[in-house]
Amino acid sequence: MSSRGRALAGLSALAGLAPSPVLEARLDRAAPLLRQLAPDPSLDDAGWAALLDATTVQETSLFRSPGQLAALEAALPPLLLAARAAGRPFALLSAGCATGEEAYTLAAIAQHAAMLHAPGTAIRVLGLDISRIALNDAETGEIGLRMGQPLAQVPDAYRPWFRGAGEVPRLHPALRDCLAFRRASLTDLPDDLGCFDVALCRNVLIYMTEAAKRTVLEGLARHVLPGGLLALGPTDRAGAPFVPLAHGLYRHG
Ligand SMILES: C[S@@+](CC[C@H](N)C(=O)[O-])C[C@H]1O[C@@H](n2cnc3c(N)ncnc32)[C@H](O)[C@@H]1O
Repeated sequence: MSSRGRALAGLSALAGLAPSPVLEARLDRAAPLLRQLAPDPSLDDAGWAALLDATTVQETSLFRSPGQLAALEAALPPLLLAARAAGRPFALLSAGCATGEEAYTLAAIAQHAAMLHAPGTAIRVLGLDISRIALNDAETGEIGLRMGQPLAQVPDAYRPWFRGAGEVPRLHPALRDCLAFRRASLTDLPDDLGCFDVALCRNVLIYMTEAAKRTVLEGLARHVLPGGLLALGPTDRAGAPFVPLAHGLYRHG
């Protein structure tokens, strides 16, 4: 097999990535990396990790798809109250979090809703991604390192959560405190990941093979609590046990 064929097969095995013009163009740019690949694809191998960093698409922003997020926010109060009544933290997952802006957004929405509807509820947000460089950015808590206008889509009510000195936005300490990040593949979710009231998996499945999409959705079904919510990207669909609502939201039935 050619080094390019080996790279494509490895990216599919590790991350579920499907061949596409985007992936081909990224492989062209990453050609020198193809010579350093260990025979067995592994997330822990430096050569394969570098290839994953170079070929995954890390585009993201705060409050991306605001209509869907508004629908999510409206559905949170009963879930927050249930978590508080059970005496446990309210847990949210950004599955494919890229540089963290989606996890920061989830933290702001959940903290805001908890303040209004279920004060005292602890919020925990986990950002999960396969890319080391994206996660390094996410962990800094710095907003929009690669963006021109990072607050462009942030609704007015949420601006105080991102207010910094002058023009530079900054995560409110209460958001920083509830965030954690972890490296893993969505196609092979760790057993100790825990369960979530809300999971977002947006603009990730679109890059995957059909088999990988099924694997990811099966994995998420094991880690979203019954009655919990899943949000997908505009072209994605989930079947049972997820029940479709409006705006690309699903309830774990
Ligand atoms: C286009 S970004 C989407 C970011 C965010 N969810 C959003 O909608 O703004 C896709 C992210 O998914 C990650 N990704 C791709 N395949 C993955 C996999 N198998 N496991 C975990 N993360 C993956 C990429 O590294 C990238 O950071």
